[in-house]
Amino acid sequence: MSAHPHITFDEQRQELILAGTWLPRDSAATFTARNIMNSAASSVRGMLYINCKRLLRINSPAFSALLDMLCWIEENRSDLHVKIIVSSAIPWAEKRFRVVIQMLGKNFSVEQYDKQFYPGQAAVEDASFIPVLQTQAKIIWEQERHILPRHGLTPQMKVADICCGIGSFAMQVARHFAPKTVVGVDHAQPALAYARHLAHEFCLSSLEFIYGDATNLLLADNRFDFVACRLALQIFDKPENILRELVRICRPGGRVYLINETYSRCFGYPSAEAIAWTYQEASGLYGALSMDLEFGPKMRCYMTEAGLKNIQVEPLMLTSCNTNGADFADVIRSWEAYAINQLAKNAGKDEAYCQRLREGFAAHVRSVTHEKGFGGWPIWAASGCKPG
Ligand SMILES: C[S@@+](CC[C@H](N)C(=O)[O-])C[C@H]1O[C@@H](n2cnc3c(N)ncnc32)[C@H](O)[C@@H]1O
Repeated sequence: MSAHPHITFDEQRQELILAGTWLPRDSAATFTARNIMNSAASSVRGMLYINCKRLLRINSPAFSALLDMLCWIEENRSDLHVKIIVSSAIPWAEKRFRVVIQMLGKNFSVEQYDKQFYPGQAAVEDASFIPVLQTQAKIIWEQERHILPRHGLTPQMKVADICCGIGSFAMQVARHFAPKTVVGVDHAQPALAYARHLAHEFCLSSLEFIYGDATNLLLADNRFDFVACRLALQIFDKPENILRELVRICRPGGRVYLINETYSRCFGYPSAEAIAWTYQEASGLYGALSMDLEFGPKMRCYMTEAGLKNIQVEPLMLTSCNTNGADFADVIRSWEAYAINQLAKNAGKDEAYCQRLREGFAAHVRSVTHEKGFGGWPIWAASGCKPG
């Protein structure tokens, strides 16, 4: 690999990686970059990838240098295909590169990598997922607020909430932990719009909600004291890619904090068997979208492999004894609606199957609302320190 502040050539992947804010004074200042690009363009065979996932800004001299390389390829390398990869988080890039490739031949293309980048994306980014997040947020926070100091959250911290959904956690941290700043990032526009609306309505000014991909964050290295990512590694098919970014943006000595579930182990009494069947099936329906709702106990392994130290894992068990029964029942009903209307229907399950699912959810509702019943939802909280 050869390097430049904004351009790297990865020979193995045949990929030119352009990143950051590349603003050369003039054409002469693009000399080194041109050398790297030209040597890539003349050496590779088959396909050259131009990765602009993190290219925040570019000025005219820089753009001309890039254009010169593309024109050179058009004239001299008719055997070569070029794919420019852009992100929806940087809207100017797609527009600008599409105009450019219209002038070039059929060997050039632009791809927005995060249009369909994980299997369950459409389901999770749909506005119909918002009620699920709303109902969950309330009951989790009541337990979670007590464990956060043990995982390193203290006042005056710079906090990131990656995959923040509708921003409930970020807002509660802003209310109760006096952070310096809280930045929430998510890839679901409806959820972010909701988060921004609430933060504005509740005058929570230390909050910022940003659209982006957690596997390619446009946030600087070592920027945050506390980096949270809740119930999200379990829905993304490559959790290690998100975790790598969480560690990157955490400062040395800061902590990365995760929560994830073992959904199939939701339990209740009476009707324990009906409940167990329903949650095992529901977990499988999520699994069909490559979501792993059993990710909780795997966190320690992933965090260790990501280089985190002093890892702490503890149960965040929500039961009908520590959680308001009516609120818990609302959560279960939101799961039921989502599992049946979105997941089972899309998986082509018949009415008898859906009815059996409903019976298990109804039994779970009874177990958490009846005075003699007992029901629960096992979640796991984990945090690890970034070595200094
Ligand atoms: C189950 S929700 C959890 C939301 C929130 N953390 C909470 O606890 O309520 C998972 C969230 O992760 C987001 N997400 C998944 N993959 C993402 C990615 N690669 N980049 C950014 N957000 C992502 C989804 O859009 C969704 O809002």
